[in-house]
Amino acid sequence: MRPNEINWSQLGFGYMKADWRFRSFWKDGKWDEGGLFDNDRITISEASTSLHYGQECFEGLKAYTAKDGSIHLFRPDENAKRMQATCDRILMPHYETEKFIEACKEVVRANREWVPPYGYGATLYMRPYMIGIGDNIGVKPAPEYLFSVFCMPVGAYFKAGLAPVKFIVTDYDRAAPHGTGAAKVGGNYAGSLMPHELAAKQGYADCIYLDPETHTKIEEVGAANFFGITHDGVFVTPKSPSILPSITKFSLIQIARDYLGMKVEERDVFVDNLDEFAEAGACGTAAVITPIASITYKGKEKVFFSETEVGPVTRKLYDTLTGIQFGEIEAPEGWIFKV
Ligand code: PLP
Ligand code: COI
Repeated sequence: MRPNEINWSQLGFGYMKADWRFRSFWKDGKWDEGGLFDNDRITISEASTSLHYGQECFEGLKAYTAKDGSIHLFRPDENAKRMQATCDRILMPHYETEKFIEACKEVVRANREWVPPYGYGATLYMRPYMIGIGDNIGVKPAPEYLFSVFCMPVGAYFKAGLAPVKFIVTDYDRAAPHGTGAAKVGGNYAGSLMPHELAAKQGYADCIYLDPETHTKIEEVGAANFFGITHDGVFVTPKSPSILPSITKFSLIQIARDYLGMKVEERDVFVDNLDEFAEAGACGTAAVITPIASITYKGKEKVFFSETEVGPVTRKLYDTLTGIQFGEIEAPEGWIFKV
């Protein structure tokens, strides 16, 4: 597939091989200069820690073509910092923030034709990752690492447009108390494949995880954070040490407060008290804002605003967030990085 063959308005969230990816290798205690590679294959030791012990992490961010035709990244510094925090948790070296942002920009510039034009709602999804490589067999940190960024054009992760989706609460956990839930490590996602499949087979878009300690509070969705809008218009989102600190969620907190004048609460969200919400949604880089039609828990379905229509507050949050991301609405200082 070449960029001129892509129907930008029909894109889903799937892999596509763009022309260039950035790679840098860590050896003898330091990163090399790094550079662009056209080959999408990597050859690594069969004894790499990433293959056996899950010493691997990743990030997800997007490049947007703005209304004025320029291309920019949304808060890539936050992805760099979150990756560093993840690296601390699984003993991998930091890839420095400035270099992380520059690597993302280089990948966008090199793959210029793959960046969806303005007006289709599509974006260039960037996938930075770091893996432990090199010869090693004991359970210990790798002797070498690869940091890379690749990209592909994407559309909606769940359903196209602002279409509400149904979720079901799973009995499985994605994270343990004091585990790696707040880190973006591959193992969290391996563990989520089966609960996701069980949910999908029953006709749900994904599952909702409860807190691993008491199984009474909503944590997050498999690949996005959760928010609810109370009947009196408060933006509520779970506070927990075992959820992924979503950059979209923190952005929405600021948008709700500063752009929409809403009250915001980061607190416990009890699964048996979902009636407190008039609207609910999932938020993340891939998910953007996905309205939640309903959540099924212990056989009972709680419908929020509507099974087919998006609620007014969710729509306002969506319009403001995407307006900022596509350069239609002025962004808070430091959110937009021109490529
Ligand atoms: N929660 C999980 C488990 C995720 O994988 C993601 C995606 O990155 C998010 C939440 C949303 O985070 P962000 O808004 O930073 O993309
Ligand atoms: C993202 O939103 O960027 C994610 O990482 C979610 C998912 C595709 C794993």
